[in-house]
Amino acid sequence: MMLQTGQNFRTLHIEGMARTFGDFKALNGVSLDIQRGEFVALLGPSGCGKSTALNCIAGLLPMTGGTIRLDDQRIDLLKTEERGFGMVFQSYALFPHMTVRDNIGFGLRMRGVPGAELSRRVDAAVALVRMQEQAHKLPGQLSGGQQQRVAIARAIAIEPSLVLMDEPLSNLDAKLRLEMRQEIRRIHLQQGATTVYVTHDQEEALSLADRIVVMRDGQVQQVGSPAELHDLPIDLAVADFMGFRNRLAGRTLTQQGERVTVAIGSAGHPTQPLTGRARRSGLGEQVVLAVRPDDLSVQPHGLPGLLVTVELTEYRGRGFQATGKTADGQTVYFSVGHALRIGDTVNLASDPDRALVYPA
Ligand SMILES: Nc1ncnc2c1ncn2[C@@H]1O[C@H](COP(=O)(O)OP(=O)(O)OP(=O)(O)O)[C@@H](O)[C@H]1O
Ligand SMILES: [Mg+2]
Repeated sequence: MMLQTGQNFRTLHIEGMARTFGDFKALNGVSLDIQRGEFVALLGPSGCGKSTALNCIAGLLPMTGGTIRLDDQRIDLLKTEERGFGMVFQSYALFPHMTVRDNIGFGLRMRGVPGAELSRRVDAAVALVRMQEQAHKLPGQLSGGQQQRVAIARAIAIEPSLVLMDEPLSNLDAKLRLEMRQEIRRIHLQQGATTVYVTHDQEEALSLADRIVVMRDGQVQQVGSPAELHDLPIDLAVADFMGFRNRLAGRTLTQQGERVTVAIGSAGHPTQPLTGRARRSGLGEQVVLAVRPDDLSVQPHGLPGLLVTVELTEYRGRGFQATGKTADGQTVYFSVGHALRIGDTVNLASDPDRALVYPA
């Protein structure tokens, strides 16, 4: 039997994790505690260091600084196989000449698990991902989603203390991605597993994770629950990543507690007010109001609001997504229930609780 690390750990402590490639800092001091049983999503744009972080945790890539501990035991100097984590790669990386069963049992055979127990544990993993009917097939005979399920079963068959997944759904079509998302959550709960899940898709992170870690340029920007990240991004960059597609420059007109009215526009152009919540006390004159398209609404002309000239509308089933321009040329994205004509002028108001005002 191979050394099994920390099956009953309480906390994975990552402290000051760093990784350089030449002069380039792919990871620049990442610190994070992950509790047993948690589902943590690492979220961030391409190149921010998500895969590098995951590979360092797995032991596939040596760190150039920092430590990783399971409770009190330092593990960052252990080999990959000594850490005993389960890994699901974006590319699946199944063995093409092995059946589904043999792929799933691979890690157990490597660990010298005896025949009867091996068989029992493979059966359990096959059933968990609902692949009983396909167990005798080769990967080449499976659909993308089925291969993905085999990759997940292979990672969890060894009953790892930690499951690491690197964008496992990115190769799947939209429908299958939704189905697999639910499967991954179900398997996580059923196994009582601890999962670290890398994605650049905010919706995936919001729906799957107990806690989201937003990364940028090799650093942690914000850690919080899905609701915290969704409702109150800490700065404009995180807001941008969390779907606040409109970022409108202006200056503060009034501030009362959290409530800020912002004159959208620049000097020399007519300015009009939108209202939101202050994200920092002591906001300056120059601010940016960030708001999702769904949190802007068209209201009657004459009421205070932002006048926008419609440039484009797209049918979205339930309604329309429109793009327009303010008097000073800022682009505005908003949702509207009925069709608009190009060149129409609409008067927009923001949901004052959902629009967020940041220092410029
Ligand atoms: N082997 C390497 N040599 C040099 N630079 C590397 C190497 N691996 C990664 N990098 C750089 O480190 C940075 C982080 O890469 P990483 O693969 O962790 O990004 P990511 O967040 O996973 O991005 P993506 O969403 O595109 O997968 C990138 O700028 C990348 O170019
Ligand atoms: Mg990556």
